Amino acid sequence: MPDTRARPLRMRKLPPVILALLLQFASFLTVIFGANLFALSPSPFVFAIACGVLAAAFSHLAKQARWWPPIQLLFIPSLAITLNTNIPPVVFLLAFLLMLLLYWSTFRTQVPLYLSSNKVRQALETQLPVEQQFDFIDLGSGMGGVLTHLSHTHPQGTFHGVETAPLPFIWSWLRIRFGGYRNCRVYWRSLWDCDLAKYDVAFAYLSPVPMAALWEKVRNEMRPDSLFISNTFAVENQPPQKILQTDDLHHSELYVWRK
Ligand SMILES: C[S@@+](CC[C@H](N)C(=O)[O-])C[C@H]1O[C@@H](n2cnc3c(N)ncnc32)[C@H](O)[C@@H]1O
Repeated sequence: MPDTRARPLRMRKLPPVILALLLQFASFLTVIFGANLFALSPSPFVFAIACGVLAAAFSHLAKQARWWPPIQLLFIPSLAITLNTNIPPVVFLLAFLLMLLLYWSTFRTQVPLYLSSNKVRQALETQLPVEQQFDFIDLGSGMGGVLTHLSHTHPQGTFHGVETAPLPFIWSWLRIRFGGYRNCRVYWRSLWDCDLAKYDVAFAYLSPVPMAALWEKVRNEMRPDSLFISNTFAVENQPPQKILQTDDLHHSELYVWRK
């Protein structure tokens, strides 16, 4: 007998966006098959709506996160509407390239670009050593705003950032190079390739997805007495020593662990 338990496990491991795309194909083929079976010839509008409804239902059945069914519902109808406009194809190519450079491997990492608020940066300030030298790393440093902010408030520190998305990396590199931030550096590198033993403070603002693996990395590599601080995303079953509340728009919390 085939192992029926293995399949859902593999499905769950697919990046959500790939699963969403497969479900779109499945809905498309189902609508074509249904139309042929019942000898129907729906208008393009009805066809697009049927695909959308089916894709949303499949998404729900596949237990995708709650924001996927509405996206799936609107995807083919929006495609149909857009194809009826006179927007030159190059606009879509440029938009795609911009998104690619900005978000890069988000479809796989499930860590998109969004920025720590000013209130979060101010709360972070309070956790850094006041007088002695130290090395700080922002794991996924985005546009470099956390690094440049802290380099002003703590000139005795050295602030490192790693970033994989090309546009944020180039932006932060230029910002640091031409903004005169002598105690900041940014590297085009995955956070998984960094040796955390070199840093006194590691900061992350990622997503719930990598937190368990990141905790393992912190536990294995960071030196005793170093700090790990996560903006917004906690680590399951690892209560932090300190939680800092901020009154920014999202009421972000900073979770602080001392090794
Ligand atoms: C939510 S943003 C945080 C930006 C910045 N740290 C801040 O707090 O404003 C997360 C960033 O991590 C980057 N990222 C995701 N996975 C990464 C990885 N494996 N290595 C390096 N950067 C990564 C993303 O490209 C994104 O720019």
